[in-house]
Amino acid sequence: MTDLSKLEGELLAEIAGAADLGQLDAVRVGAIGKKGRISELMSKLGSLPAEERKAFGQSVNTLKGKVSDALDARKAVLDRAALEARLATERADVTLPVRAGSLLSGRIHPVSQVFDECVEIFADLGFEVAEGPDIETDDLNFDALNIPAEHPARQEHDTFYFAPKADGSRLLLRTHTSPVQIRTMRSQKPPIRIIAPGRVYRSDSDQTHTPMFHQIEGLVIDETTHMGHLKWVLEEFAKAFFEVDEVRMRFRASHFPFTEPSMEVDIDAAAIGKPGQWLEILGCGMVHPNVLRNCGLDPEKYQGFAFGMGLDRITMLKYGIPDLRAFFSADLRWLRHYGFSVLDVPTLGGGLSG
Ligand code: PHE
Repeated sequence: MTDLSKLEGELLAEIAGAADLGQLDAVRVGAIGKKGRISELMSKLGSLPAEERKAFGQSVNTLKGKVSDALDARKAVLDRAALEARLATERADVTLPVRAGSLLSGRIHPVSQVFDECVEIFADLGFEVAEGPDIETDDLNFDALNIPAEHPARQEHDTFYFAPKADGSRLLLRTHTSPVQIRTMRSQKPPIRIIAPGRVYRSDSDQTHTPMFHQIEGLVIDETTHMGHLKWVLEEFAKAFFEVDEVRMRFRASHFPFTEPSMEVDIDAAAIGKPGQWLEILGCGMVHPNVLRNCGLDPEKYQGFAFGMGLDRITMLKYGIPDLRAFFSADLRWLRHYGFSVLDVPTLGGGLSG
């Protein structure tokens, strides 16, 4: 019996002295684990004379109960201490300003910024964003858009072709975002309201032309859409984009095989602080009946408009960037100067350009 109370004193002292959960577990294993000191006492039970067995068994059980309780109590204390220590190291003050680090030294490219601004404006007008691949077929880039093989526009596009396949067909790098019109009309039922921003390619290179540039296509198809709607949408866009109350626009008659009538649109550069100059920003028109037919839509029932705008061009205009080629020269100094902070997400409510 004295042995037992001595053992109890020792074990309780060990438990109280365990400084962390690891030490406490070692004490537990040493006491009530399979080969622990209390477990060993139990295994001796069989070798005792029958009359001592019961009393000894009870005492060992009582000891085991006390030690287990003490282990549990100490564990609860150590658990809480461990949690508090963790909370202290992981504490984050969400009210602190962002630390100047990689997040702030990175820059959003002006074209990406303008891309996001356009999506924001057109989404507010009820447009969805559609996408198409950069590598297209002759059919989607030209034929379905009412540009047959012998059409001069086909040569004018300075197309990058891939090597012809065995059947004579060839893939190409899309020369405009207009094939997304066809993809959309062939896969969606009207009413259709989409914009399609993306890369386009033409074999052309000088101060104002790069072999790859960006366009944003717009397409609206339903039963009642007319040119008044086209004009309104473009005016609303221009006002929101240039962040001014008034933008004067000029619609000039033009020609595209996939629209009839067709127009080119200029804006009065007063919107960007340069009055007295007209700047061309896009081509547009009412979707040609042949294009509707090529997509399985009945031109007697459906009509609508399309436009194609140069994203790089409107970026240069809005942000006063002089040389198009610098957009694609991956010059960090240029990006630091003209780029946007990752944290300035364009929104209509909060301001597009921050
Ligand atoms: N795809 C034409 C271009 O690249 C622009 C355009 C799009 C014109 C839609 C009319 C309608 O020049």
